[in-house]
Amino acid sequence: MNEVELEEVTKIYELPRGSFKALDRVTASLEAGEFVSVMGPSGSGKSTLLNIVGCLDTPTSGRVVVGGEEVGGLGDEQLTRLRRDKIGFVFQQFNLIPTLTALENIEYPMLLKGKKGKGVNRQDGHGRRSRELLRAVGLDEQLGENRPNELSGGEQQRVAVARALANDPDLILADEPTGNLDSKTSQDIMKLLKATNERGKTIIVVTHDPQVASYTGRTFRLVDGKVVE
Ligand SMILES: Nc1ncnc2c1ncn2[C@@H]1O[C@H](COP(=O)(O)OP(=O)(O)O)[C@@H](O)[C@H]1O
Ligand SMILES: [Mg+2]
Repeated sequence: MNEVELEEVTKIYELPRGSFKALDRVTASLEAGEFVSVMGPSGSGKSTLLNIVGCLDTPTSGRVVVGGEEVGGLGDEQLTRLRRDKIGFVFQQFNLIPTLTALENIEYPMLLKGKKGKGVNRQDGHGRRSRELLRAVGLDEQLGENRPNELSGGEQQRVAVARALANDPDLILADEPTGNLDSKTSQDIMKLLKATNERGKTIIVVTHDPQVASYTGRTFRLVDGKVVE
């Protein structure tokens, strides 16, 4: 099965000084269980592509299928559900919620999912699952009580990976996840992503770094919004 299919995906940004084509008829597909990287110069459309696959943005034209669902045919509620349940995101700036502890950050997507009607229905299993995820990404239990500013960059990114896994999504999207980390810590995070891939997750990682890309099975290269292979 294909986890992701892109057919002739074009993204045009309308700007005051004219329009800008960030993606130009990108066609690509990824099988379930693949680990791929997207490389290319700054401004080549990598984040735009990842955001479209992650249903955070919509293409100007073309077809996007994620987890067998035709994204263009989904309404807002269905898109929210797809993002929340089927996709995990990891960002360069970690994007943890600063007022929540590491464990609470990991638990947060589970609370969003468990939400029924107006009230938040806190399920008993969430605390246990977030502690398991904390351990799975190689962090000590005591660090679970720390807030993001009490963690190193590498530790924060481990928490972000655990959070991305919270709802057990099939697809993980990581936009320059090692961009703010030193080379040793970058390798630790890539090993963690590789282990995650080996447990069956499909992963797309955007990177500038050939060493990061070397952990993946296949690399897409973007130049001026086009895939060149
Ligand atoms: N929201 C936006 N509005 C207008 N232009 C944008 C927007 N987002 C990205 N762009 C432009 O699209 C191009 C590709 O951006 P991006 O996908 O972020 O590139 P990359 O991640 O490869 O550095 C850049 O030239 C950028 O300025
Ligand atoms: Mg980018």
